[in-house]
Amino acid sequence: MWLSVAMTLALCSGALSQDKLNMCMTAKHHKTNPGPEGQLYLQCAPWRENACCTANTSSEAHEDNSYLYNFNWNHCGAMSPQCKKHFIQDTCFYECSPHLGPWIEEANQSWRKERIVNVPLCLEDCRDWWEDCKNDFTCKTNWHKGWDWSTGTNKCPKDKQCRKWTDVFPTPKAMCEEIWSNSYLYTTHSKTSGLCMQMWFTGKNPNRKVAEYYLLNNVGQQRSFALTALLMLCVAPLIM
Ligand SMILES: *[C@@H]1O[C@H](CO)[C@@H](O)[C@H](O)[C@H]1NC(C)=O
Ligand SMILES: *[C@@H]1O[C@H](CO)[C@@H](O)[C@H](O)[C@H]1NC(C)=O
Repeated sequence: MWLSVAMTLALCSGALSQDKLNMCMTAKHHKTNPGPEGQLYLQCAPWRENACCTANTSSEAHEDNSYLYNFNWNHCGAMSPQCKKHFIQDTCFYECSPHLGPWIEEANQSWRKERIVNVPLCLEDCRDWWEDCKNDFTCKTNWHKGWDWSTGTNKCPKDKQCRKWTDVFPTPKAMCEEIWSNSYLYTTHSKTSGLCMQMWFTGKNPNRKVAEYYLLNNVGQQRSFALTALLMLCVAPLIM
C-alpha cells in the first residue's frame, strides 16, 4: 500500500515538474533547464540569476551575422544602433527567458521543436522598438521566412524592394506582431500593469509573475483542466 503511494507520488512529481513558470523551450540554442548564468553579456545581463541562454549565446546575441542564426540585420543598409539594440534585446529575451512557458507551442520547423506564440508585450517595449527603428529600412514584414539564403545569410529576395520602415510596418502593432510570425502580441498594457511581458527590465525578473497570472487566468481552459485532472489523480491516492 505505502509502496504504491510512494510510487504514485514519484511519478506525479515527475509529471508536474514540467514547470510552465520556469522552463526552457526546445529550440536551437536554449539550455535544457533554466539556471544561474553569472557571465551573461551586456544587454542579456538582467537574466543572470536564472536563464535559458548560456554566456556564449548571450555574447553572440550582440554580434552581426552571429553563428546563432547567421541573421543579417543590415539587409537594407546598416541598421542604426538605436534600432539594433532592440533586436539584441529581443534576442536576449527570446534566448534567455525562463518564463515563457504559457506561450510555448510546437513549432514543426526543421531548426526548432518549439516556439513562442502571442507573448503579450508591454506597450512601452513595442512602441520604443518601433520608434527607434522608424527611420531605418527593410524589405520584408515577416523576417522568419521568404529570404534569399543562397549566400549563407539572409538577403532581400529579388521581388522585395527596400522601403522605409514605416511603409513596411505602419504601426508598432504591425511590427511587433508580424516580424516574427506572431511570436509577440501587441498590448496597450504598461510595464507597471503586471499584465504584459517586459523585454527591457532591470533588477529582479518581473515576468515570472506575469506568466503566473496568464497561466492561472487566461491561457487555455484545456490546459488548466489537464493540470487539475493530473493534480486530482496525484492527490487521490493520498486521500483514499
Ligand atoms: C560560441 O560558441 C561557438 C561554437 O562553439 C564559437 O564558434 C564562438 O566563437 C563562441 N563565441 C564566443 C563569443 O565565445
Ligand atoms: C509539420 O510539417 C510536416 C512536413 O512539412 C507536415 O507534413 C505536417 O502536416 C506538419 N504538421 C503540422 C501540425 O503542421
